[in-house]
Amino acid sequence: MTQPALSHDASPDLRSTFAAEVRAGLTHTPQKELPSKYLYDEVGSALFEVITVLPEYGVTRAEERLLAKHAAEIVEHLPHDVTVAELGSGSGRKTRRILEALCKKRPTSYCPIEISRSALQLCRRELGDIERISIVGYERDYLAGLAEVSKQRAADDRLLVLFLGSTIGNFGRLAATRFLREIRTMLAPGDALLLGTDLIKPTPVLVAAYDDSIGVTASFNLNLLARVNRELDGDFPLDAFEHVARFNPDARSIEMHLRAKRDLTAHVGAAQLTVSLRQGETIWTESSHKYRAEEMPAIADGAGFVCSHQWIEEEWGFAESLLVAR
Ligand code: AVI
Repeated sequence: MTQPALSHDASPDLRSTFAAEVRAGLTHTPQKELPSKYLYDEVGSALFEVITVLPEYGVTRAEERLLAKHAAEIVEHLPHDVTVAELGSGSGRKTRRILEALCKKRPTSYCPIEISRSALQLCRRELGDIERISIVGYERDYLAGLAEVSKQRAADDRLLVLFLGSTIGNFGRLAATRFLREIRTMLAPGDALLLGTDLIKPTPVLVAAYDDSIGVTASFNLNLLARVNRELDGDFPLDAFEHVARFNPDARSIEMHLRAKRDLTAHVGAAQLTVSLRQGETIWTESSHKYRAEEMPAIADGAGFVCSHQWIEEEWGFAESLLVAR
């Protein structure tokens, strides 16, 4: 953080957790996998910022258009005196509209929660100039961070949790509902969750969004193995892998994989792991589930919320749903 006194730093065992999860993922059968949260180190976060402005990736622009148009109206539907906690703030660019609308009414505390320190830094730079805002970053997993924010909020403050950018899509469907339920356990009745979801659209549009023509998403994906090499003493030959994006119609998700172009063996020192891949075998690195706007009320209900309002961006296909804790 640029202002360390205002941050809550990561625990020292992040590296051993990373090593343990890499080990579990790369020994998983029949499909090797790596957790998508590790895509976001400093390099990955910077590459993701580039993805958000690629012509093929309409998700971020759609949400920005939606929030630019409806932020004032969304804020009208929120309780008075909210502390804002954002799960995975990224650069914070898309959040600006909501925070400006809130801060126009009253001074507002904003708590971005991110496992990426560089994203927290970007976020502070992007949003620090908003009048009457106070920003306290939490370098934590989402739920650990939210538990802390919830504990530390002012006694009469309601909590507004922002989960924007369709990050919920990076959970499996069951896991998404479970995650929403866990969020709900940290909220009081009347607290709110603003949830952004990318909507289902034709397969070629979706595949292009995750396999852009200049290869930024391919680099974003490959950086995961580069990060394992850098941080966990790995020796994956990066030139032996290619990026693959494919639509899974059963799960209604886009999957990113890294495919071995030849038989290979690699080692990950910090995970005490030797791993072999056959030519054509893949490591599954991310899923991005796509939703129908009409699904949201039932999903909300299953997690202890009421979907009180919804705003849809029709040009690309994106929904913002306001869920209120029952
Ligand atoms: C952060 N998340 C919502 C992005 C998505 O669309 O699933 C991550 C991403 N992966 C490849 N492109 C963008």
